[in-house]
Amino acid sequence: MSTLHTWEKVDAYLTERLIQQDSILDRVLANNKQADLPAIDVAPNQGKLLNLYARMIGAERILEIGTLGGYSTIWMARALPEHGKLITLELDPHHASVAGHNIALAGLSQKVEIRVGEALEQLEKLEEEGTAAFDLIFIDADKPNNPHYLQWALRFSRPGTVILADNIVRKGEVTNRHSTDPRVQGVRKFIDLLAEEPRITATAVQTVGVKGYDGFAMGIVKS
Ligand code: SAH
Ligand code: DHB
Ligand code: MG
Repeated sequence: MSTLHTWEKVDAYLTERLIQQDSILDRVLANNKQADLPAIDVAPNQGKLLNLYARMIGAERILEIGTLGGYSTIWMARALPEHGKLITLELDPHHASVAGHNIALAGLSQKVEIRVGEALEQLEKLEEEGTAAFDLIFIDADKPNNPHYLQWALRFSRPGTVILADNIVRKGEVTNRHSTDPRVQGVRKFIDLLAEEPRITATAVQTVGVKGYDGFAMGIVKS
């Protein structure tokens, strides 16, 4: 039997105290497991953090890159007002299909649109459609493309748009400039871009918890 790390116990405690027991989200995670999706959704307390961010800024339009089974999607979509909208991009049709089922289960099908395919292609389509700016953009797909996703996020932004990215620490590998892992290099380029891009001001924090040692970046678009 493996022993729990302190931070796993703390996550369990904080989640038990602060996150409402939620039979829908429990079923979503069970469905994901049943459908063999990897358990790489955000943690419950991180999902609620996304929900609170969306509410803090009164988000009405949210873009998510990387749906998986829709767990983070549901947390964010629940923050939307009646007329709000969330567009989420997913490469894998199986993931998208499970997510569609889960989002229906959560009663959010009216507000959430899943677009299936390479995110870079879907982003281009969105631009062709002349999509309006988003209030909140959550980047959580293939990490090597993070620099491209940030460029796209800026194109879909207005002053005040909040851009978030998951998994930017990767057990500390992010500091390894010689890493041969394209995911690490993608994150490093993403951080460089955040640093150099005058249109956004950003920070990043490390996180530990049930999902291990990782972190997220957040920025606000200035112009
Ligand atoms: N945001 C989810 C987790 C996403 S996991 C949550 O927290 O619940 C990352 C997802 O990105 C996976 O489902 C994967 O299939 C998808 N993905 C990977 N590469 C992609 C690409 N090129 N375009 C779109 N989605 C991609
Ligand atoms: C991976 C992706 C994620 O979005 C995550 O939260 C954890 C791991 C991955 O691709 O390994
Ligand atoms: Mg992630």
